[in-house]
Amino acid sequence: MKPIQVGLLGLGTVGTGVVRIIEGHQEDLMSQVGSPIQVRKVLVKDMHKQRHLNIDPALMTEDASEVVYDPEIDVVVEVMGGIEPTKQLILDALAQGKHVVTANKDLMALHGPEILEQARANNCDVFYEASVAGGIPIIRTLMEGFSSDRIKKIMGIVNGTTNYILTKMSQEGAAYQDVLKEAQTLGYAESDPTSDVEGLDAARKMAILATLGFHTTIGLEDVEVKGISSISKEDIAYAKRLGYEMKLLGIAERQDDQISVVVQPTMVKTSHPLASVNGVFNAVYVYGEAVGETMFYGPGAGEMPTATSVVADLVAVVKNLRIGVNGKQGHHAYRTKKLKTDDQ
Ligand code: NAP
Ligand code: HSE
Repeated sequence: MKPIQVGLLGLGTVGTGVVRIIEGHQEDLMSQVGSPIQVRKVLVKDMHKQRHLNIDPALMTEDASEVVYDPEIDVVVEVMGGIEPTKQLILDALAQGKHVVTANKDLMALHGPEILEQARANNCDVFYEASVAGGIPIIRTLMEGFSSDRIKKIMGIVNGTTNYILTKMSQEGAAYQDVLKEAQTLGYAESDPTSDVEGLDAARKMAILATLGFHTTIGLEDVEVKGISSISKEDIAYAKRLGYEMKLLGIAERQDDQISVVVQPTMVKTSHPLASVNGVFNAVYVYGEAVGETMFYGPGAGEMPTATSVVADLVAVVKNLRIGVNGKQGHHAYRTKKLKTDDQ
């Protein structure tokens, strides 16, 4: 069968993992989708930058139109981040009838409705599993696994960088700035890590989870946010002496028709399962009226875990292509109301 052609926007931490998985797992992927998956073009900012990956230089470009307007490209995988020019590139790709996979929570939390509307209008898929909790398939779980239940609470550690920092401060007495630098080197932090440490990254993820889990409209403005930048080693040591671990928690709750969503540093009793979620790991606790308590755990950031979710979305797009249901079956198709945009 004709290969599926992929255009990659970005070849940083996540993009590199995506190429590695497509190449390394080619046979397994083919056995699921019935055709080879090929990376046809890769957009980067600087073609001369040293890469930790052997890639044919002929695939690389600094010109986005070579990806977005290439008629041979079936799916655009966006792992460059940021709001612009990314949003416009995605809208243009969808207008060209290309399906989109993105890891961009900033974009989906702020401009989800516009992007999903463009996808619907062009019978295209937009999947964004990697935008929340890296390698944990929590979006699919909420939308498919719990579609029969009424979710009352979603609570979790959804930012790997801050959990890495808090863990190192708690277990090794490490200094905040040193560990933040480490998290950046390891590829966990956002290009501007302020969004990690001030809780905004977690707030965007909680807005996405609460919107999908509660079938409603949660915008960023609905999330109360406090980050970890003012937490000291002494605060953490004091919490420990009292039998608690300090964690940056996102908590979304529904009581009757009232929904509240907060992100804040929280003292978690050491006996609670969330207290032993350490390092870059994330965990999401979901309480459903019928199912009761469930918890999902795994790496929340980093090259290969995040790329696993991105390529799983790619497989989902291709499976939809095979049965001709793109734009009709997927993350977007389940929404009952739109996400609010920042200007609503
Ligand atoms: P990154 O390492 O900074 O990589 C960004 C890539 O995009 C680089 O290859 C860069 O080119 C390219 N790029 C950026 N702006 C560009 C522009 N204006 N034009 C052309 N190319 C541009 O970022 P990342 O960590 O892989 O994250 C990518 C996305 O995934 C973000 O939305 C992030 O929030 C999300 N995400 C990341 C993780 C993680 O663990 N890192 C986990 C989940 C989700 P150069 O290489 O030439 O600089
Ligand atoms: N900066 C994010 C984090 C990447 O640390 O969780 C994964 O979304």
